[in-house]
Amino acid sequence: MKYMESSEIRRTFLEFFEKKGHKILPSASLVPNDPQLLFTVAGMVPFKPIFWGKVKPVYRRVATCQKCIRTTDIENVGKTPRHHTFFEMLGNFSFGDYFKEKAIEWAWEFVTQILEVPEDKLWISVYEEDEEAYKIWSGLGIPEYKIVKMGKEDNFWGPVGPTGPCGPDTEIFYDTGIEVPTIDGKSPTPANTEGRFVEIWNLVFTEFYQDESGKLHPLEKKNIDTGAGLERIAAMMQGVYYNFDTDLFEPIIKRIEEVLGVKYKDLKKTDVSIRVIADHVRAVTFLIADGVLPSNEGRGYVLRRILRRALRHGALLNSKEPFLYKVVDAVVEKMGSIYPQIKKRASFIKEITLGEEERFLKNLSRGLELVEKIAHENNLYISGENAFKLYDTYGFPIDILKDIAEENGYELDEEGFEKYMSEQRERARAALGNVEFSKKTDYENLNVKTEFVGYEKMYSTSKVLSIKKGNNFVEHIENSEGEIVLSVTPFYPEKGGQVADTGVIKGPAGEMEVVHVYSPVEGVIVHKGYVSGRILVNDMVEAKVDTEKRKYTMKNHTATHILHAALRKLLGEHVKQAGSLVEPRRLRFDFTHYKALSKEEIVKIENLVNDVIMRAIPVVVEEKAYSEAVREGAVALFEEKYGDVVRVVKVGEFSEELCGGTHVHNTGEIGLFKIVSESSVSAGVRRIEAITGMNFLEKYRELTKIVDSVKDELEVSENDMIDKIQKYKEEIKKLKNEIKQLRSKNINFDEIFKNSKNINKIKFVTAVFEGMDSNVLREVADKLIDKGLDLVALFNVVSEDKILIVVKRKKGVENLHSGNIAKELARILGGGGGGRPDFAQAGGKLKNKLPEAIERLESLIKEC
Ligand code: ALA
Repeated sequence: MKYMESSEIRRTFLEFFEKKGHKILPSASLVPNDPQLLFTVAGMVPFKPIFWGKVKPVYRRVATCQKCIRTTDIENVGKTPRHHTFFEMLGNFSFGDYFKEKAIEWAWEFVTQILEVPEDKLWISVYEEDEEAYKIWSGLGIPEYKIVKMGKEDNFWGPVGPTGPCGPDTEIFYDTGIEVPTIDGKSPTPANTEGRFVEIWNLVFTEFYQDESGKLHPLEKKNIDTGAGLERIAAMMQGVYYNFDTDLFEPIIKRIEEVLGVKYKDLKKTDVSIRVIADHVRAVTFLIADGVLPSNEGRGYVLRRILRRALRHGALLNSKEPFLYKVVDAVVEKMGSIYPQIKKRASFIKEITLGEEERFLKNLSRGLELVEKIAHENNLYISGENAFKLYDTYGFPIDILKDIAEENGYELDEEGFEKYMSEQRERARAALGNVEFSKKTDYENLNVKTEFVGYEKMYSTSKVLSIKKGNNFVEHIENSEGEIVLSVTPFYPEKGGQVADTGVIKGPAGEMEVVHVYSPVEGVIVHKGYVSGRILVNDMVEAKVDTEKRKYTMKNHTATHILHAALRKLLGEHVKQAGSLVEPRRLRFDFTHYKALSKEEIVKIENLVNDVIMRAIPVVVEEKAYSEAVREGAVALFEEKYGDVVRVVKVGEFSEELCGGTHVHNTGEIGLFKIVSESSVSAGVRRIEAITGMNFLEKYRELTKIVDSVKDELEVSENDMIDKIQKYKEEIKKLKNEIKQLRSKNINFDEIFKNSKNINKIKFVTAVFEGMDSNVLREVADKLIDKGLDLVALFNVVSEDKILIVVKRKKGVENLHSGNIAKELARILGGGGGGRPDFAQAGGKLKNKLPEAIERLESLIKEC
């Protein structure tokens, strides 16, 4: 068979379909504009709204090479020849244009004539009820025994997400010829073997839409969605069984070998680790390039797990320092010409990777200390829960934990760990699955529509279309809580981070105090609140928004846009909105950034935002047809929101965002902007809280009041406040020290000495103190040993249920082990701990067991 490099496969595939009238589009982002999905999991994801009939296609035939992420089978990556987290999918798509016949014909033509794969190596599977596809294949001359019929499990694809487009499919398999057993003892086919036949291309006939209950409905148009895994095709064209042995991975694996000083294809165990790293470094590179940063939730969490899994396998290969960021270079070199953004952002990707590696290594050493502590506090036992905590919080690899447990004689509950782990996996899966999609609501079938006039007005007359009380729709409502839908409303429903308006709806015989407004289904706006008097369906009412509050919300919303643009200008293009809340009193903005902002950065940001405010720039809102907004071609299509009309909010040249919210007309209305806090939401995501306008003045007054009262309390002028506080602090420190010294001076060493005993030629003493500083306690132990004792055991009753134990031994008294003694005493006192042979500390809880502990010490000395 002829040999083909991956770049040639990509090129010939796209050229082939271009000749067949397809528009070639670049790969969309790994982060889809799709509330149902965390990641782009297939080539069709960017086109989902088109398949679904929600968006009109710009082109009817499209072909792409799409970067994808799938992590549901992450445990298998590295162990098998073909599992990946990151992969590239070649695909051709028809949006209501050609269907089964052409799709099959062209796929066959490409595989047999362009790739020149011998026909005898190819097999087909079709959905068992799809006679049409079966006939098309056999019409192409494929012997019937090589067209395998399979069920829905194998030959039906989609939807991605809980609902959406899907359909039966047909697959092309390549026979690698390797010998594997068949399930039924018959001759091998794709249906009765594992691993011999590799599925190289899936052609989906996307003609259905699946609803929430799993029911299929025909789509208006019949579509084609195909996906051919580039890595698999490359393996086939390069005559290798493992995707990892293709040119796609070769330079990456080589770099891993260099950086970690290992050899691929040496040992089975190290090969798995090398493959894991080779796969994961691609995912890491591409995810960070697309704006995902490691964090503890959502996409960032998935990235962090991928990253840590790679690092863990680095640790298994004896890596002691950051290495993965160096491998990123190999990915950029191999793929940067196809995906320029990884080249453009290479240094940023490396910086983030290195940061995460350093954190991981630090955690590793912190984790090591913690393991010791946990083990000692729990009688050398590490429970499943603790093991999992170490893994989850500190990223502490279980394999390493196993090693440590073995070395130190700790007992490790691996089974318990696995239990926690699988619960975690479930959580991760759930997170991977589907985030927010609108629930089916009562309002869906109501057949009412609200016109929103709140962009221009805060007041309107309107007709009551529906009233809901409890779970029922009613004809009228009287002196109770309920929900009202109006024909026209100025009330902004909560969405896009902006809170809902409040206000009042006045009818002829009653009024509702509106406390919340929301939109359960597109086009329906629901007002929630308490009705005093009576409101009836068909009443003509006046709807009045609380203008004061709304005006503040508008200031904060526009300020949020300016802040967003300022952050991108000052910190860099990697800044992406990760959440926002716009209220009348304040705004909150979460964004991706890898480190805390410095004071200087905050000042710069405030200055820039206030500069835009003070320049009194008009805020222009344009409503554009979707197609107009995407006239830049389909690249924009990937980035923009889907919908017939999009709203573009522009603050001069400074900021331009798609937004459905309400805004001031001129930035001058915002007045002033001040950041009141900057904090971390999760690693890689920062949060800014800020205030504007009069809220700033109020805040300023509040602070002045505090300063005034502190000044009064300290009895100094404003300028001397800090000095005075410093002075007080130093004084407190001095006093504390004095107390400590007094306490230790008061210790009567002679008295303690008098109580020493001599058993087995060991001169020892025990003493009980109350509320002693733990440093002093250690000093006392040192002094007593210096005075000539062989062993001291001191108990410090810190509180009713907290006893500190210190055991110290003179050098050379080999047959006593302070660590073991402390552990034993702590056990009697209901606690744990331990330490070195010459010195140990432990803790207990049971004061009343002190005599027993002291007795036990004596018996221990007798036994030694
Ligand atoms: N969307 C189909 C798949 O991912 C082609 O297999």
